[in-house]
Amino acid sequence: MASITVRNLDPATKEALRRRAAQNGRSMEEEVRHLLGALESSETVNIDGSARSTAAPVVSGSLAGRHILLIIGGGIAAYKGLDLIRRLRERGAAVRVVLTSAGSQFITPLSVGALTADRVFTDLFDREDEHDVGHIRLSREADLIVVAPATADLMAKMAAGLGNDLASTVLLATDKTVLIAPAMNPKMWDHPATRRNRRILEKDNILFIGPNAGEMAESGEAGAGRMAEPLEIVARVEEFLDQSPKPLAGNKIVMTSGPTHEPIDPVRYIANRSSGRQGHAIAAALARLGAKVQLVSGPVNIPDPQGVQTVHVETAEEMRDAVEQMLPADAAVMVAAVADWRTKSESGEKIKKKAGKGPPSLKLTENPDILAGLGHHKLRPRVVIGFAAETNDLEKNAKGKLQRKGADLIVANDVSPETGIMGGLKNRVRLVTRTGVEDWPEMSKDEVARRLADRIALMLEEAEA
Ligand code: C5P
Repeated sequence: MASITVRNLDPATKEALRRRAAQNGRSMEEEVRHLLGALESSETVNIDGSARSTAAPVVSGSLAGRHILLIIGGGIAAYKGLDLIRRLRERGAAVRVVLTSAGSQFITPLSVGALTADRVFTDLFDREDEHDVGHIRLSREADLIVVAPATADLMAKMAAGLGNDLASTVLLATDKTVLIAPAMNPKMWDHPATRRNRRILEKDNILFIGPNAGEMAESGEAGAGRMAEPLEIVARVEEFLDQSPKPLAGNKIVMTSGPTHEPIDPVRYIANRSSGRQGHAIAAALARLGAKVQLVSGPVNIPDPQGVQTVHVETAEEMRDAVEQMLPADAAVMVAAVADWRTKSESGEKIKKKAGKGPPSLKLTENPDILAGLGHHKLRPRVVIGFAAETNDLEKNAKGKLQRKGADLIVANDVSPETGIMGGLKNRVRLVTRTGVEDWPEMSKDEVARRLADRIALMLEEAEA
């Protein structure tokens, strides 16, 4: 797919693009991808040149125009191969399948062909196949070869360089990257022969995804050997084939996200309702644009963002220390809902309820303000961004914070309980800078993250000039 680098556009076009993206609720990068995608979709043809007959619904065009050769081996996980075809096609990939004869004991060429809208290449390696496509062409026309499930037998063949059926011959003849998703009984995965083969394949630059640990299809069996889930494989494929622009490459960005927990005694703490969703989404979006992101996360119940170095802390002081260690950085994005106060001294023992004495009083002391510390630091990052979660006087408070904390941008949001923003999936933000205020419509936290990441790329570029 063609691509345009937003920062190379002239200011008027950039502004027009920004307005159009805002109207459509997309980031600027996404708007460009959308426009280019619309241009290209009118010319979509099958990989063999014929018009594609049954188009899968497009979830996102992240794999538009990419060709994947999927080799489905013989294992119970072969059924996940069918779902994998759908997920890849939903994202715009053209998928060709080689089904091994063992694989066709689990799923049929008919179901595979219905999902790929293409002929299926089986182990019946007849003259017509050789004449028509041939294992060499089949192995070279793909952008990436995925083997899922990769059985112990297929891995052994690959490690030994055998080529005694279509799948192994294709794998031997290819000059393309091969990603394998092993699936087998945990004892087979652990066998010295499979271990040896794994080492050889790793040396041969074969990429691995999984296997995951868990229950096996055979009753009573558990351990490492479950094939990675189709969406995990898709994410790995997307990561490998990602050619989107990386305007933040070479930039290091320090972030905080989530709440902090300030201990009262060994079992109680002061906390808040922050889920970490918005901060984690921003960290992932910045990483997708090529930034090296170091995230300090308070206690949250969501996974670490992909492609981000994450450090886990509990208290504001630990968060401040971790951030300090990450300096110098090009930008800082402080999203954490840091507790303003902590107890003056933590009780070493659980505070007991005493009959007739009433509740204990807690002595509080102020926590360090991490954002203000960075805004006035001798190693101040070029771009410093804070959040302001307010229930009233949103703009006035945000402007005050911008000044006091020495930030370049405050992302303000109304966290009154009726908005459902705190802990929810949606957000409605207002961007406050020294030169103005910008209202964004309500959108998902992921969308806010994508648009903010684009904005940070522009701010860093401007700060450089
Ligand atoms: O003053 P207030 O807590 O409303 O400021 C919010 C902004 O300041 C957020 O960006 C938050 O991450 C940051 N902050 C901080 N350290 C504190 C308090 C807030 O970094 N102790």
